[in-house]
Amino acid sequence: MALKDNEVREGLEGVVAFESTISHIDGTVPELVIRGYDINDIVNNLTFEQIAYLLLFSELPSANKLADFDAELKSLRCIPNSILEFLTGVPGNSQPMSVLRTAVSMLGSMDSGVGVPDQNSILLKLKTLIAQIPTIVAAQARIHAGETSIEPDLSLSHSSNYYYMVTGEIADEKTLNAFDSILVIYAEHEINASTFACRVVMGTESDVYSSVVAGISAIKGPLHGGAIDGSMNMLKEIGCVENAENYVKDALAQKRKLPGFGHRVYRAGDPRAHVLKSMTLELANSRNNSKWFDIALEAEKQMANLKNIIPNVDYYAAPLLYHIGFPVILMTNVVTSARIAGWSAHILEQHGNNRLIRPRAKYIGKSGMKIQKT
Ligand code: ACO
Repeated sequence: MALKDNEVREGLEGVVAFESTISHIDGTVPELVIRGYDINDIVNNLTFEQIAYLLLFSELPSANKLADFDAELKSLRCIPNSILEFLTGVPGNSQPMSVLRTAVSMLGSMDSGVGVPDQNSILLKLKTLIAQIPTIVAAQARIHAGETSIEPDLSLSHSSNYYYMVTGEIADEKTLNAFDSILVIYAEHEINASTFACRVVMGTESDVYSSVVAGISAIKGPLHGGAIDGSMNMLKEIGCVENAENYVKDALAQKRKLPGFGHRVYRAGDPRAHVLKSMTLELANSRNNSKWFDIALEAEKQMANLKNIIPNVDYYAAPLLYHIGFPVILMTNVVTSARIAGWSAHILEQHGNNRLIRPRAKYIGKSGMKIQKT
């Protein structure tokens, strides 16, 4: 629907801010299409490296190009010692997303090429961030748990190495498949709040790191990526299937927003949640432990009956990540290490065809006031 002059759309709902070739959401189907490929096709067939390439270069890689890209990402995985020292020095109760935000900002302050407005140098910085954010997240997780950080293993794939750096173990096939699929599913999602934040900062011709720091700052909020931690904490609070009905009723009576439910664009279902729901069930069954899936399913039914609100991507991603050994406190960081791929595509797109992003406000404040000299 066209905007009327001076019409305010609260939360910019339905406002089309850019033309983009990166991804498209149709909330009515519902569907998510990335560079022309449906998310179901993507998750069934692509690894994280492949979707990252697709996002950065607009096409799927040939076998040779994928090998080169994979080798380049591997060569960029190690983080500077000063970042490790910072991670060791932060207080044990620091919020992991705040620590990640600061670490990325530090990487920016160490980069003498900050601000060089050329697509190739921007691309290299983005590839570096795609490769290094998992190393930062994993090192922080281990240091936080009182263990020593683990150096990247260059013989392992992106997801396998990430899992190894966090847990110290090589993931079995099912675990690796689940983890890689989570990274693939979270890699890109059109102009969500964090991507918009990245584009706003890039639109001022600021630098890549500042843009990514803006994205991290936005995605950590509980209404956005932070909802994944909230979802798992909620399932733990519910505790058993029998408690789900009263929990949901009480929350709705208190007008609380349940994490992992609702979406600005998908009102009839989030296609990512459908995929994650079946993956969670499959993994739970294979491990003879369906406790979290059963609670989630019951709470989902109650939400559908009482409020007709659908689970979003975070709802089943939370128990899936929990099943494969990720602590709740780390979940938004995992989401961020996937979304950096999508942010990268948007940062390149914004920089490649930039116009300062500068909306207006409809003024509803006082007028005609005069300063009284005392
Ligand atoms: N729990 C309970 N009620 C909800 C929820 C929820 N999670 N989400 C929406 N509603 C209700 C609202 O209260 C409102 O009800 P009303 O019409 O009776 O007042 C109605 O659904 C419409 O909701 P809005 O607030 O208009 O939805 P909006 O588009 O502004 O918000 C949002 C979307 C922020 C995602 C919201 O659904 C929410 O807060 N969800 C919980 C946090 C969450 O899971 N965020 C992750 C989103 S996906 C992502 O970023 C990775």
